[in-house]
Amino acid sequence: MANTVVVGAQWGDEGKGKVVDLLSSDIQCVVRYHGGNNAGHTVIVDGKKVILHLVPSGILYPNMLCLIGNGVVLDPVSFDEELTLLEKQGIDVSAKRLRVSLKTQLIMPYHRILDQAREAKAGHGKIGTTGRGIGPCYEDKAGRCGVRAADLKDPDILMRKIRAALAEKNALFTTLYGMEPLDARKVFDEVMRSAPRMLPLLTDVSEELENVWKQGGKVLFEGAQGIHLDVDHGTYPFVTSSNAVSGNAATGSGIAPAHLERFVGIAKAYITRVGSGPFPTELLDDTGEALRRKGGEYGATTGRPRRCGWQDACILRESARLNGLTDIALTKLDVLSGFDEILCCVAYEYEGRRVQYPPQDSECLGRVKPIYQAFPGWKEDIGGCRSWEDLPANARAYVEALEQLSGVHISIVSVGPDRGQTLFR
Ligand code: GDP
Ligand code: IMO
Ligand code: MG
Repeated sequence: MANTVVVGAQWGDEGKGKVVDLLSSDIQCVVRYHGGNNAGHTVIVDGKKVILHLVPSGILYPNMLCLIGNGVVLDPVSFDEELTLLEKQGIDVSAKRLRVSLKTQLIMPYHRILDQAREAKAGHGKIGTTGRGIGPCYEDKAGRCGVRAADLKDPDILMRKIRAALAEKNALFTTLYGMEPLDARKVFDEVMRSAPRMLPLLTDVSEELENVWKQGGKVLFEGAQGIHLDVDHGTYPFVTSSNAVSGNAATGSGIAPAHLERFVGIAKAYITRVGSGPFPTELLDDTGEALRRKGGEYGATTGRPRRCGWQDACILRESARLNGLTDIALTKLDVLSGFDEILCCVAYEYEGRRVQYPPQDSECLGRVKPIYQAFPGWKEDIGGCRSWEDLPANARAYVEALEQLSGVHISIVSVGPDRGQTLFR
């Protein structure tokens, strides 16, 4: 197993949690390098389900070192709740196994409130964020007024930063949003309640990774969201506020890019999206509803129904280009069982031309027309298939077509949510 970056190749919820867990059997360390608890990564082993928001999805392996890098935004209150839940499920989340970068930015209560107030005011123009304070926290990071995990060690620094932040945020809350101002002491107390749990976990993640490599270990970098939610390369402005692309695995965990060797894109056999923004292959009919029902397409973080649509090769091609994908793990192929015909968008019509990649003009993805190719479906339940040869011929033909259309080898096919429901090619 090489040092591997796992990224979502679509708009998130592709099954990254399942694949990270799967690939973790051969590595020593898993790192989250961006995003926050907007993520919801599901891992199911022998029917037991765990949903992870900040904790890396390698945590189910007893000897795994799980790290949270500097590129992540961490809500200490929700992190504390997540760790308590994992402990109740018998999972060890002590500093022996889980560590957090001293440089990780903290999502403060005022970030959460600002995110939700903005969305409420935006009405139809809203982004449809998870309301977790992700955007406002990254804004403060870039604005050089963020609170970092290391600040929990020094109450004076923490209080100074909170007071400075509230001088601005409270003006917004009271004048623009008609809300009560926040009290600095209350914010401080809320955040400091997490300090006893957080402080023992704080570390220099760059050094930790260097130590793993010195001992001959291998590392898996766990992406969150999906490439088309990337703040630069996604469907701006309907994106998240971090870089989801594989290159950020280096920046977001504090290592040199030369360490990264394998880049696995996770793609569903169809596509889903949560929140607002263009989605060329979206199905607003019974077929979309059937995908949502069969695929259980409801958010792991917010429970919102996911928008569903056919596969889109233009989206996959751009993912391959932006991430240098070495291979793709195709998930949820089982959900397509039973359809007479399966469609895949092979190109777009845009301003009278046929294009292979999403055009880059402002907000233009809403104006492309998908050009579809139809593939014959299969009726068999494939959840029990354990090898490539077990799959119906039409399912294999569809996977091979996606490989051709995206230009990337599909090395893993997932036929159910459980760790065992997986075929390797
Ligand atoms: P992530 O955010 O990319 O980790 O994905 P989520 O966990 O948010 O959503 C993926 C959902 O699909 C979860 O409920 C998984 O348990 C489930 N899942 C993953 N792979 C498969 C698969 O091959 N088949 C089916 N039916 N479900 C899957
Ligand atoms: P995982 O890691 C799906 C979406 C939100 C919204 C936009 C911005 O589980 O795949 P934010 O709260 O980040 O400011 O919201 O991004 N979004 C996700 N959609 N999966 C996710 O994570 C997502 N994280 C954010 O729905 O459209
Ligand atoms: Mg998810």
